[in-house]
Amino acid sequence: MIPDSFKQELLHRVDIVDVIERYVPLKKGGANYSACCPFHTEKTPSFTVSPTKQFYHCFGCGVHGNAISFLMEYQGLGYVEAVKDLAESVGMKMPAFEPRTKKPEGGPDLYEIMERACEYYREQLKATPRAIEYLKGRGLTGKIAARFGIGYAPDGWQNLEGVFPNYADKALKDTGLVIEGEDSGRRYDRFRDRIIFPILNQRGSVIAFGGRVLGDGEPKYLNSPETPLFEKGRELYGLAQARLAIRAVGRAILVEGYMDVVALAQHGVEYAVATLGTATSATHIQKLLRQTDEVVFCFDGDAAGRKAAWHALEVSLPHLADNKTMRFLFLPPEHDPDSFVREKGKEAFEKKLETARPLSEFFVEELMGRVELNTHEGRGRLVHEAKPLLKQISARTLQLQLIQRIAATAHLDAGQTARLTEELTEARLAAPARGMDRAGQAPELRLVRILLQCLIAKPALAKELSAELVDQQSLEARALIAVAEFCRESPEVEGNIVVDHFQGTEFHNLLESNQAALLDTKLEAEHLEVDFRGALERLQDKQRHLRFEALRVKPGRTPEEETEMLRLLRERNQVPASQSNNAIISGSRSTP
Ligand code: UTP
Ligand code: MN
Repeated sequence: MIPDSFKQELLHRVDIVDVIERYVPLKKGGANYSACCPFHTEKTPSFTVSPTKQFYHCFGCGVHGNAISFLMEYQGLGYVEAVKDLAESVGMKMPAFEPRTKKPEGGPDLYEIMERACEYYREQLKATPRAIEYLKGRGLTGKIAARFGIGYAPDGWQNLEGVFPNYADKALKDTGLVIEGEDSGRRYDRFRDRIIFPILNQRGSVIAFGGRVLGDGEPKYLNSPETPLFEKGRELYGLAQARLAIRAVGRAILVEGYMDVVALAQHGVEYAVATLGTATSATHIQKLLRQTDEVVFCFDGDAAGRKAAWHALEVSLPHLADNKTMRFLFLPPEHDPDSFVREKGKEAFEKKLETARPLSEFFVEELMGRVELNTHEGRGRLVHEAKPLLKQISARTLQLQLIQRIAATAHLDAGQTARLTEELTEARLAAPARGMDRAGQAPELRLVRILLQCLIAKPALAKELSAELVDQQSLEARALIAVAEFCRESPEVEGNIVVDHFQGTEFHNLLESNQAALLDTKLEAEHLEVDFRGALERLQDKQRHLRFEALRVKPGRTPEEETEMLRLLRERNQVPASQSNNAIISGSRSTP
């Protein structure tokens, strides 16, 4: 990994305004610069660059990052390449960096092992006419095979011994590249005589492989097991390659197979990604919605395809927004995207895409198909089945429309429809309404956000935060603790590096939006501290309150507990009540 200290020095030396201006004309307005966003189509500028905080943020599409990520996104560079590029532009010499280490401390780097194996498989492909013929037979050119890093694992049990002289290395087993016989303890290569599809993470590092038999054989695909680098249900095949196209087109297609992604790209449809033989997960959806506003799920036209699509719909409901579109495309039963695009070409495929059903239609049709609409019982069941699903829809307008649609289909009258609407929307409004403060957020969540924003603006504050103070139920709270821990370990670090450090984790999106919230605040360092300590005080106070209440209702308190209650009461009274209203950040747009 490139040392944080180097990154930090680099980000100090370059000015993000200069870097971006090389590609996008910026206009100064107030403290920040703005432009029409280079990553999505828009008429009024919502792309903002902060010269003081050295990051960019688009209020339209949500892209966010520092000078390094700008180059990665805009130029389609890998991380190391982008750093190299920037370093060269300011005459800094790249350090000889150690490879990233992952979990097994001090041991060899798993990423590096995967990278080496990947290179080996690619070389082997070049040397194996039979494998090349297979890929050609499936319509792939060398160019597209190279783009996806496709390789070939030769036949034989221990070929990797030639690549990794220490074949007994524990790390080799940890990557899933070798398998150890349970009884014999003998090791052998997992992938033998298979076409190899490397699976990359969003940063472009190889984290797993999928291997296909060249002809018929079982299993058709063999995949890397779950490893410290690879969690199957979270990853999307082809995302690293598709990212720029997804941004450019404003749409992503989710398909089921490796070959679907590769074949679509071969025919110029470069914005497709695939799940890895698992059902669509909420993580998949979130990952895609971060890249684009429109996702088209493309499934086989058979019963299994419809079932998979319905599952995808169910997990999507809580992630819908009124500015996001999700659609479902069912291909004719005899086709998958690979065979379809190969037979009919890009234009026909994209024309077919236009016919994809919006989520709302699929939702209603599917539910209606399950009941008998010409009976009272059937219509009652429709409402019954729709309710739990409707409740989860996070897009307010869409939710109301679908409620009305279901109500109309079930022949509910105006009064019944109103009651149903109330029932389905109330649950969501009521829960947070209890104990909400003026800013409209649960007070604890708002405090956690203030703390998080302060930490991003001034990581050195981390030493004042103790983990016990925060109830780690929410993603925000867990992010706060993780960030604080990281900042404590490297107190010299800066906000940009903090956000960067969490790339590829569940916290990254959240950190980006909290950093973006800082765009609107004209914070001075000392105000930050006031805000930070004020929020800490209030959290502490809340804990005292909870403890006090727990003791108060407890029958048979010990004398010690009585004393503790007195102490809690005293401490609580010392907190100036006005402190809570001083927060400077909380007054501005601090709610991402
Ligand atoms: P399919 O059987 O639809 O394969 O499985 P495909 O992509 O059309 O394969 P080709 O065209 O015959 O080469 C879809 C996905 O399910 C996973 C793989 O991720 C595959 O791409 N799968 C399938 C496995 O993991 N193992 C298998 O044995 C089969
Ligand atoms: Mn196929």
